[in-house]
Amino acid sequence: MTERIKIIFDGKTFEFPLLIGTEGEKAIDIKALRSKTGLITLDPGYGNTGSCTSDITFMDGEKGILRYRGIPVEQLAEHSSFRETAFLLINGELPTENQLKRFSVMLNDHSLIHEDMQFFFQNLPRASHPMGILSSMVTALKSFYPELPDMEKDVDTTVTRLLSKIRTLAAMSYKISRGHKVVYPRPDLPYCANFLNMMFDSPVKPYKIDEDVVKALNIFWILHADHEQNCSTSAVRLVGSGKVNLYAAISAGIAALWGPLHGGANQAVIEMLEKLATQGADIKNLIERAKDKNDPFRLMGFGHRVYKTYDPRAKIMKATCDKLLAKFNISDPLLDLAKALEEAALTDDYFISHNLYPNVDFYSGIVLRAIGIPTNMFTVMFAIGRLPGWISQWKESMEESQWKLGRPRQIYTGLMKRDFVPIEKRS
Ligand code: CMC
Repeated sequence: MTERIKIIFDGKTFEFPLLIGTEGEKAIDIKALRSKTGLITLDPGYGNTGSCTSDITFMDGEKGILRYRGIPVEQLAEHSSFRETAFLLINGELPTENQLKRFSVMLNDHSLIHEDMQFFFQNLPRASHPMGILSSMVTALKSFYPELPDMEKDVDTTVTRLLSKIRTLAAMSYKISRGHKVVYPRPDLPYCANFLNMMFDSPVKPYKIDEDVVKALNIFWILHADHEQNCSTSAVRLVGSGKVNLYAAISAGIAALWGPLHGGANQAVIEMLEKLATQGADIKNLIERAKDKNDPFRLMGFGHRVYKTYDPRAKIMKATCDKLLAKFNISDPLLDLAKALEEAALTDDYFISHNLYPNVDFYSGIVLRAIGIPTNMFTVMFAIGRLPGWISQWKESMEESQWKLGRPRQIYTGLMKRDFVPIEKRS
């Protein structure tokens, strides 16, 4: 017999099913809580709330485990490509050789964007943040590429279109922001190399594709590809639950990712390190400020809602960073500062007792700097990486057994019923 959880309320005992995930995680299934007891749950920030069951990603925050479709992220970072990992997340299995070839052909076929979309970029103020531009452009894709009539049958086309075009949109927005000529995608180049070429090739200085840079970018995107029910993914699922089109749901995810506590942290880390460098590298003072409850400052790139140990992605990112900088003989003073800051934090009682460790964003900015990506594009890079995760989570949430309009409840704490007072009688 399945185990049941008992809730005693108002002198009565109510029983609820216990759910156990494949990795042993346990949950009370409270779907019938309100109808049986009249109660709801209150969990701001959803730290104890499972919003769905999912077959996509497994995380164990205590042990520092992250797996996509069962495969450890360490193995994917070492042996896979971003394109292959995207296929795995979206379709549930690693592709066969033929499937991967077909996927690559589809990505190439859909890589161009409608020329008229360039007018949007041209007319946006030059100082616009690339995340705002990306979010608007992805919504605009719906006007240029309406969803195909048979969503069931054509989902692959819409999904591949989005995966391919987001890369072109990001590179194009960068080129236009610099007043440079747009570089078109090249069908002979794979996903990551193609993006780098669109970003950095120019008529006066042809871009030389370096396999180690391509590998570093593959790793960066693989590490960001999914992270179960985080803020932006939950936004995609929630917005998508209203049965809005895929582009609009993804655009909501991009907007959610922009925040400095979420994807925007990679930009915030570099800005923090740059400030630290210009202000005399006073690490002790920075640590004290992060601990001071009266100071809103937090150590960016530290801490995580789920990880209570070293983020497994941060370990790989740090190693990638060391390798890349060594290969190009780059001495980045920000890397030295980051390492000193990490050491100071990891030996500080506050950080130890709060289980605050570096997260993926702590070293990723230094990798992106070494590749040549400008700081204000860092979160866009995160968004491109997270796209396969958003798509796979959206697809899963649209399945008949999962779909339910997202609509949380609340406990009202405002004024009780009172009468309207005409304006002349208000004091
Ligand atoms: N620096 C200083 N103190 C911190 C930090 C930090 N970076 N992060 C958490 N704390 C403290 C916080 O003040 C609180 O202390 P106390 O319990 O004494 O009041 C305690 O740790 C718990 O913090 P919380 O905000 O309740 O924890 P959370 O799980 O909601 O926070 C977080 C997660 C990521 C928002 C937070 O750690 C943070 O703000 N980190 C900095 C921003 C950052 O690096 N974000 C990227 C996250 S990884 C990329 C992604 O997946 O989005």
